[in-house]
Amino acid sequence: MPELRLDHLTIDYPARDRGPAYRAVGGVSLTVAPGEFVSVVGPSGCGKTSLLHAVAGLVPAAAGTVSFGGTPIRGPGPERAVVFQHASLLPWRTVLGNVAYGLELRRVPRREARARARAMVELVGLGDAASRYPHELSGGMQQRVNLARALAPEPAVLLMDEPFAALDAQTRDAMQAELLRIWAASRTSVLFVTHHIEEAVFLGDRVVVLSPGPGATVRECVPVPFDRPRDTALRRTPGFVALADHVWSTLAGARDRKAPHERANLETR
Ligand SMILES: Nc1ncnc2c1ncn2[C@@H]1O[C@H](COP(=O)(O)OP(=O)(O)O)[C@@H](O)[C@H]1O
Ligand SMILES: [Mg+2]
Repeated sequence: MPELRLDHLTIDYPARDRGPAYRAVGGVSLTVAPGEFVSVVGPSGCGKTSLLHAVAGLVPAAAGTVSFGGTPIRGPGPERAVVFQHASLLPWRTVLGNVAYGLELRRVPRREARARARAMVELVGLGDAASRYPHELSGGMQQRVNLARALAPEPAVLLMDEPFAALDAQTRDAMQAELLRIWAASRTSVLFVTHHIEEAVFLGDRVVVLSPGPGATVRECVPVPFDRPRDTALRRTPGFVALADHVWSTLAGARDRKAPHERANLETR
């Protein structure tokens, strides 16, 4: 099984006027092994979305490379699926129709597309809602459809950009646990970007901590040793709290350590 590899990935945005280009990402190297779940955290505006878009093939690398199984990525491809923060479902299609849509675009025969979509809808726990329309769903349910739609073509890598950021705290916790269950069943690799430290630690095999931009780089790669399957109670264990604290101080920079009660401005917990 091939791995995803970022090698000194650098991303520039051209200046509006004749000024110098803006360097959002300044040389990020990391790999995502087959079946691995890698979280990437960094402050807002540090270049997380840019990095994910480069892996998706939506933004070019100014320098460095992104490759999958040794082949350089030059555009979008079926082995990489993206899940954005906003579900952007087709309002005139049902849950099942939305999930089948990506398969139909890939010319999977309609009957087979429906069958595969049905299996994915069941996997994300929406079997009873398959014939509902997006406006009849809660935010959490819409994100489940979004996830099922991304997984239906059986991508090797799932690229997730703060997919739960718009959900309320309780739904967000529930969706994180659900994502782990679905990931375990599908065995795809996941590259998950978020500014939410606990989410990154709860989900990941590793947490990659980015420095603030411009020119964001990897500050530290933190292994997450907790057994799987993980459930919500893990978040309250001393080991989890200590590891989240470590990620927090890495993110904040060693010069800038603050007591937990002073953190509210940096990170909403
Ligand atoms: N299309 C673009 N053109 C110019 N600058 C951009 C563009 N997209 C993002 N940026 C800038 O690049 C930086 C990183 O953005 P982004 O990747 O969205 O960060 P994050 O997802 O971590 O919040 C920001 O300063 C942002 O303003
Ligand atoms: Mg972003």
